[in-house]
Amino acid sequence: MVTTKPTNGHLLGIDGMSRSDLEELLELTDTFAEVGRRPIPKVPALRGRTVATVFFENSTRTRMSFDTAARRLSADTIAFAAGGSSLSKGESLRDTVEVVSSYGADAMVIRHPMAGTAHRVAGWTDAAVINAGDGCHEHPTQALLDCYTLRERRGALDGMRIAIVGDVRHSRVARSNVLAFTALGAEVVLVAPATLLPPAVEGWPVTVAHELDPLLAGLDAVYLLRMQQERITEGLIPSIREYAADFGLSAERAARLPDDALILHPGPTNPGVEISAVAAADHRSVILDQVVHGVSVRMAVLFLLLGSGRSPASTGGSPTDEEGGRP
Ligand code: NCD
Repeated sequence: MVTTKPTNGHLLGIDGMSRSDLEELLELTDTFAEVGRRPIPKVPALRGRTVATVFFENSTRTRMSFDTAARRLSADTIAFAAGGSSLSKGESLRDTVEVVSSYGADAMVIRHPMAGTAHRVAGWTDAAVINAGDGCHEHPTQALLDCYTLRERRGALDGMRIAIVGDVRHSRVARSNVLAFTALGAEVVLVAPATLLPPAVEGWPVTVAHELDPLLAGLDAVYLLRMQQERITEGLIPSIREYAADFGLSAERAARLPDDALILHPGPTNPGVEISAVAAADHRSVILDQVVHGVSVRMAVLFLLLGSGRSPASTGGSPTDEEGGRP
């Protein structure tokens, strides 16, 4: 049963979350995954609550997944998308946040190209703020769904050897995942050309390699990152073709992974760049599981932040009872 708010009222990053905070969320996710398998995958746990998605960057999976999660919990949803908004009339971020707050948002799921935005927004609103990606900084729910996917296949992350491959420098997914994977006991190796590693990588709890091929046979999981072409302003790689030849998970490289290794990618993939279409469809690929688990993890996060104040015990049922969790 959920009794605490390990994320301190917001979910701004994996940074600051302990192993037990992460495990609590993953255990709660099991409960909501079970809801997702029901014929009618909906519970009343957040009835009367409002979840706002506030996206200043494009998104398919993250936005739809939060929206689906909120609806499955019976919350109302409102959406702000930068395209088509009054941003073009000069509206500031703070204005936008205040407008969304005044529609009664209890949670604000925010994505923004600037690192630190979710933290700033948390200072401007009473809503629970969930970071859905802030520039190159963090993307905590992606890391949670990735941990859930690995845990579901392997039982636990302890002792797993996971390679995170590609554009680490611009990847909020890599930052959040390094913190989450290592907190849960995995060993992480970052594999990238030196130009695609962040300047401060020495301080990270990882090892670094500049070649993928020698590592393949010893990996439990390989996590391919999308080449973040929208964030690359300098010539950091000779060409996409050469990057793909050196670091892309081709069918031939996938064949050298152990039989029980897992292949992950946060999506959207650039087919033929960081992963070939054949490797993405390999029987060891869990890319679609990641998408499915994203909904369950986000239900758990929304419930922890918005629902757990009303203890399930005091409402006469479990948060996932069809009639439980009612106010
Ligand atoms: C990631 C993101 O936006 O940071 N995608 C996602 O949330 N599924 C990774 C990416 O865009 O490469």
